[in-house]
Amino acid sequence: MAKAKTVFFCQSCGAQSVKWIGRCPVCGEWNTYVEEVIQKEEPAQAGSWKPASTTPGGSSTKAAKSRPLNDIVAEDEPRIITSDGELNRVLGGGIVPGSIVLIGGEPGIGKSTLMLQIALSLRKHKVLYVSGEESEAQIKMRAERLVDQQHPNCYILTETQTQNIFRQIDQVQPNIVVIDSIQTMHSSLVESGAGSVSQVRECTTEFLKFAKETSTPVLLIGHITKDGSLAGPKTLEHMVDTVLQFEGDRHMSYRILRTIKNRFGSTSELGIYEMQGTGLRQVSNPSEILLSQRSESLSGMAIGATLEGNRPLLVEVQALVTPATYGTPQRSSTGFDSKRLQMLLAVLEKRAGLRLGQHDVFLNIAGGLRLDDPALDMAVCAAVVSSLNDLPIPGDVCLAAEVGLSGEIRAVARLDQRLAEAEKLGFREMYVSHFNGKGLDLARYGLKVQPVSRLDEVLNGLF
Ligand code: TYD
Ligand code: MG
Repeated sequence: MAKAKTVFFCQSCGAQSVKWIGRCPVCGEWNTYVEEVIQKEEPAQAGSWKPASTTPGGSSTKAAKSRPLNDIVAEDEPRIITSDGELNRVLGGGIVPGSIVLIGGEPGIGKSTLMLQIALSLRKHKVLYVSGEESEAQIKMRAERLVDQQHPNCYILTETQTQNIFRQIDQVQPNIVVIDSIQTMHSSLVESGAGSVSQVRECTTEFLKFAKETSTPVLLIGHITKDGSLAGPKTLEHMVDTVLQFEGDRHMSYRILRTIKNRFGSTSELGIYEMQGTGLRQVSNPSEILLSQRSESLSGMAIGATLEGNRPLLVEVQALVTPATYGTPQRSSTGFDSKRLQMLLAVLEKRAGLRLGQHDVFLNIAGGLRLDDPALDMAVCAAVVSSLNDLPIPGDVCLAAEVGLSGEIRAVARLDQRLAEAEKLGFREMYVSHFNGKGLDLARYGLKVQPVSRLDEVLNGLF
């Protein structure tokens, strides 16, 4: 028997080396090289659709010929429109035939639920849901929770070996394949354990080839690591057509499906769901829900008009400012960057003359959302001042502007969308930057627009 060939792979970026290295020269991470065995033989019996080995020399594919672009006829295969409007939106208008989509997210966020729900809702298509994580009975129980009526064209396969999966695909001939998850899959062409760099890469290549050659879309579920990036090699993200990220606070009910990469559409799209006892429900008008718990005139609350992806959202910013009990005052922030909060507090202290040095400041974005739009700055400042002075802000006023280091109010992107959303939700007044009004017909909107240029102007106007 030939000696097994081994290669060392960086588990962080997928770089390879013939010998062990302490520090990866590509990504700079320490102690990430692991030895993995690579076997080069083709398996004895595979299904009739056989993925060729990716290793050089083992390939059996025909050489392609170049053609003039003019001679190529683009057959416009229609996209598969799911009943899930939020998913269609993030994919740029439905699932593209032959595309490979990677859905990443933390454990327990609802990736399996979302995929099963989509599989069950595609009644006109045959779907093969491959799970390497749950048993058939567990999937059945989940499906029963999700829908009352079962879908006759949804096939479940609990298998982790790709060659066996392709054999089943041959039999079932599905229109869509879901793989839960890519880290549990293993191919017999590579000998290292499931979840290792070479396995993840090999399995993805096999599914990619299958998708392109048969025009069957494949939806892959991927795990993410502690620091939020997709587990496995970075090359995984380059290999697939679309990368979606499913995120949200596990203890809150809202979930956001975000497009990170899309070869067939925009990357600034966003889908919003609510996790309920019966699965994920699409939220088509998020602002109404985020603001629904608003009671009249409480101090420490301000409404910010933010933009998540392409969608305008009105969110409630809550602040609590109390005298500090310990020597060092605490600053804590949920859903908003804490460094940015500290900067805004320093600006308030220096430019608006507020004494915040002896106070604890707690900030929260209601609804469990994590936002990083600088247009929330003014709402954050307003909420902090409102809580400090115990003066409520009228409930029909909202704010959208960035606050600069010298206390100047800066313009934000796409104010027209924010204004239109605020108007739709019945707001009476919106504070915006003085620089934003130019080129915009402010009289067109049914709400009063207050242009401001300095932080103290905002505070004088509000309180
Ligand atoms: P799951 O899809 O298993 O997460 P992932 O595949 O991303 O690890 O989601 C599991 C969570 O969702 C679990 O905490 C229970 C919750 N859940 C509901 O609240 N309602 C439901 O109808 C279902 C199916 C799950
Ligand atoms: Mg799962």
